[in-house]
This record gives sequence, C-alpha cells and structure tokens, in this order.
Amino acid sequence: MDNHHSQNGAVYSTEQKNHRDAKKPKLTHFISDSELRHEFSHHQTGVARINNGSFGSCPRSVLAAQNSWQLSFLQQPDDFFFNKLRNGILDSRLIIKDLINADDVEDISLVDNATTAAAIVLQQIGRNFASGEFCKNDTVIIFHCAYQAVKKSIEAYVTSVGGSVIEVQLPFPVNSNEEIITEFKKGLERGKVNGGRVRLAIIDHITSMPSVVIPVRELIRVCREEEVDQVFVDGAHAIGSLKVDVKEIGADFYVSNLYKWLFSPPSVAFMYCDKKVENVHHPVVAHEYGKGLAAESAWVGMRDYSPQLVVPTILEFVNRFEGGIDGIMKRNHEMVVKMGIMLKEAWGTNLGSPPEMCASMIMVGLPSKLRVMSDDDALRLRFYLRVYHAIEVPVYYQGLRNGERVPRDKDGFITGYVRISHQVYNTVEDYDRLKTAIIQLLEDGKVCSELPKE
Ligand SMILES: Cc1ncc(COP(=O)(O)O)c(C=O)c1O
Repeated sequence: MDNHHSQNGAVYSTEQKNHRDAKKPKLTHFISDSELRHEFSHHQTGVARINNGSFGSCPRSVLAAQNSWQLSFLQQPDDFFFNKLRNGILDSRLIIKDLINADDVEDISLVDNATTAAAIVLQQIGRNFASGEFCKNDTVIIFHCAYQAVKKSIEAYVTSVGGSVIEVQLPFPVNSNEEIITEFKKGLERGKVNGGRVRLAIIDHITSMPSVVIPVRELIRVCREEEVDQVFVDGAHAIGSLKVDVKEIGADFYVSNLYKWLFSPPSVAFMYCDKKVENVHHPVVAHEYGKGLAAESAWVGMRDYSPQLVVPTILEFVNRFEGGIDGIMKRNHEMVVKMGIMLKEAWGTNLGSPPEMCASMIMVGLPSKLRVMSDDDALRLRFYLRVYHAIEVPVYYQGLRNGERVPRDKDGFITGYVRISHQVYNTVEDYDRLKTAIIQLLEDGKVCSELPKE
C-alpha cells in the first residue's frame, strides 16, 4: 500500500450516509425449494448439519458476490482501493445500521469476528488499569459460561494488569429470566466488596454452551442502577437469529458475527460502539489509527476485505424469503422448538430452557442411560455421531451441583445435552437421524465412555 491511503474511497457527509436507503428488491416470487437447495448445493451431501451455530453457512449467491469483489481487486487493484473499497464497506455498514436500529453509521464498525471485538473492549479496559485510573479491587463481571476466547482476553488484557473477574453461575437448566437476573445481582454485590467497582459487565446475548437467550435489557438496567461503568454485549450468535435493537438494549458495545446466522462468508462481524466511550481502538494499528474505530477497522493493512463487502447481497438473499430476515428468524425459532420437543419426547428427557428463552438453537437433554459423565464423554458422543452417523451436533456435559436432584429421566440424572440449530437449509430428516442414532445406542446398551475416540 502506498501513502495515498487517506484518499481511499469517496467521502460522504454523515447526513448523506445516514439517509442512503438499502436497495429494495423487485420480487416476483419467494425462493422455491429447488432454488434454496441450489443455494446450499456446495454443502457435503448426506450430512445432517444441525450445528449452524458454530460456523454458520453461506449461500452460493453470496459466495459469487464475494468472488466478484475479489476479482474486482485483482483486475485493477488501484481502482479498487481508491474508488471501491471504502464505499463498499460503508454500504455494508449502512445496512447494518438500519438492521440494528442504530442512529449513526459512525457507531458501526466491521471487524473480523467477536473475538476481535472482545480485544477492542478489553484492551481499552486494560489501559485504564495500567494507567492507574482503575484500582486493584475493580472488576469485570461475566457469566461462568462466557466464551473461552473472551475469558482468555480478560486474562491477557485485564487480570495481567491488576484487574479481577467475577464469574456469575448461569442457572442451567433454566426456567425463567428471573433466575438469571437474581444470580447476576448477587455477582454485582460481590463486585462491591472491599470498596471495588465493577468497571465492565460482559453479557452474552445468547450464550454458546449451554445455549440460552439472556435477558440483556433487564441486566443492563440493573448494571446502570448499580453504576457499572460499561457494558459489552457479546451477541456472537444474535444477528439473524433474534432481533437486535441497540437503542432498546442500551449497551456501550455490542458485537455480532454475520457469518453465523446472517449468511456471510467467513469472516465478518459488526461492532456497535457508543461514541461516548473514549480511547477505543482496533487491536491492529494501521494507517487510520486515531480516526475512530470505524475507519481504523476499515483498513488494517493489506488483506482480503471481500467478506465485509457482501452485506448488500446478503440483504438481497434474505429478502427472497417470506418476511425477509424476520421471517427467517421466526421460522427457524418455531422449527428448532418443534424439533427440540420432538427429540425430548422421543428420549423421555427435557429442554434446557423454555422455548421463549431460545432463538434458533435449543438444548435438548440426552437420556441418562448414555451416561454423559464428563467433557470427554460429551466429545466421544459428538465424534461418534459425526463419524458413524454423519450428524454434526455439539454435545454438552453439565455435572450436578451440590444437593441438586434435578433434572431426571426415568433412569437417573440428566447430565448431557445436545445443542441443536435450525437454519433455512435444514429438514426434519436431519433431526430424525439424530433421534434414531441415540435410540440405537440405548438399544445396544452403550454408554458414552465405551464409544471410540475419533
Ligand atoms: C458467545 C460467543 N462469543 C464469542 C465467540 C467467538 O466468535 P469468533 O470465533 O467468531 O470470534 C463465539 C463463537 O462461537 C461465541 O459463541
């Protein structure tokens, strides 16, 4: 890259930027079954993919758009860099701004993934500890099941410079939002001992494992009442699986991956950052350092920016479905609940949360007879289902805590769960295959520790 970077793309006034409408599709019919199958015809055949939550999925039309952006760069790099790249990223950010009901496109940055956003937030917090602005007793509060990469980032950027962490146990299986709010309030009380302050709350919008939709608005209200300095909502799984309204949510930072539930290729996420928060920077420092997070994130050195440029094509894709992205979310939710209920009834088990506390993923209890008694057992079952039945599904182990007598099935305590996802390409047969594979194991009298390890 040469030193003309500041001319990279046209410059819009903020007013222009905020009033540019996303293109409206001219639809003659909704996507047909065969068109839908074609969009995902690159998926390996014969695999029951009921794990959209981990790696997402990207339709052919979006991949084609990505490829054409890549070719556009290779055909004429200078023209791409100076005239197309920044405008393209801005178009994507404008669409996201409308989707999440933000006021200003300058509050929206595109970054690689949720892990990058966690680094952005936690480095900023870490700098306050390092400079002495925050004291030793000050803390960051998280749920115990916060994503491992986020926990590692706290270790790297916060505890290494004197901050501490409070982990709130997420009740699971969970019956109501109140159970979660009660535990969270207790965690905030712990943060105040010895005169400490809670400087940051990290709240998942949808926890990864076990998967539960968290009452973020209510928790943020509590945080504000208790004078927590900042709130970062980790919505890695959120956009495309539940409604994200950053105004209603009221967090200082919000991240969501587009590659999980919004059909982008790997890898892009949006990050909302309230402009009140100062000293926020992309972890990769490049030419645009100091010009605001959105500009910093739009050029982090030479790389492939195509995943950030396909958001308009994603919008066209989702608008081919009845109700657009809202219709997709609604149907995925209804189907995952229906499939979860079908499985728990076939296995005589339970759901990990009531349907209203899930979006497009739900936890379903595994029969106790399978004896999922450790993380290793859970991994064995996951490998077994993939290798012997071509089923992609994550398996979760949760030991009983002291004194707990639930949940139970007719044979004992339920300590294993599958996390099933539903995306537009799934069919009922995918879940039937899982149902049958588990029933077959029971009929064969197998327990998880006997299953081969890969
Ligand atoms: C809750 C949560 N946070 C963060 C992440 C990290 O996402 P990424 O790997 O895209 O950075 C994930 C990934 O699944 C997640 O589930």
